[in-house]
Amino acid sequence: MLRITEVEFLKSAIKKTEYIDSLYSEIAFAGRSNVGKSSLINVLLGRKNIAKISSTPGKTRLINFFRIKFKIPEKNQSGYFYIVDLPGYGFARVSKMERNKWQTMIDTYFNNRLNLRGIILLVDIRHPADVKDRIMLQFLREKQIPFQVVATKADKIASTRRKKILKELATDLDLEKDKILAFSALERSGVSEILNWINNIIL
Ligand code: GTP
Ligand code: MG
Repeated sequence: MLRITEVEFLKSAIKKTEYIDSLYSEIAFAGRSNVGKSSLINVLLGRKNIAKISSTPGKTRLINFFRIKFKIPEKNQSGYFYIVDLPGYGFARVSKMERNKWQTMIDTYFNNRLNLRGIILLVDIRHPADVKDRIMLQFLREKQIPFQVVATKADKIASTRRKKILKELATDLDLEKDKILAFSALERSGVSEILNWINNIIL
């Protein structure tokens, strides 16, 4: 099992020239604004507020790079990888110009980041599949970027109903059963499944 031993926020970037060197494998977190990307990253990394959180959508406006040191005790192995907190999409209260800026920023990232190994795509467990999420999934499939869908805010749904809702979301998004899992930042549930996925991707 992969264990995180050190976490460092490296920098925020807009332009390609501002990205950090691509020394290590990278996993990026994508999804609608306010879906809980930054919260998930904090829980995963065991830090309260290393990724900035807000109840107001549109908190993360830049591409944020974190460097993670990990170890796998069973294998006597250690190393680094990067995590990227991406600005969310679908935030209604922004101008067309801002939306275009976001699109350029995201396109540039996906088209240039050669060390990008996988995407964790967050959806809200309470909401039916959204057209913006479908477009993102379609894009990831076309680009053949490995992805894992994570249904966030699972605490908002009774645990007895979660399985059924996950199944419906999977059908809706045309995903195999193991391509979606539930997560809650409040309960800290789903963490080991996500770490396990990252482990398989980066090693
Ligand atoms: P942007 O940066 O705007 O793209 O948003 P984000 O996807 O990073 O969301 P963020 O982590 O900032 O969380 C948005 C809101 O949802 C905050 O008020 C969080 O406290 C809340 N939230 C996030 N995850 C969970 C969760 O698992 N359960 C509950 N109940 N609330 C959550
Ligand atoms: Mg955020």
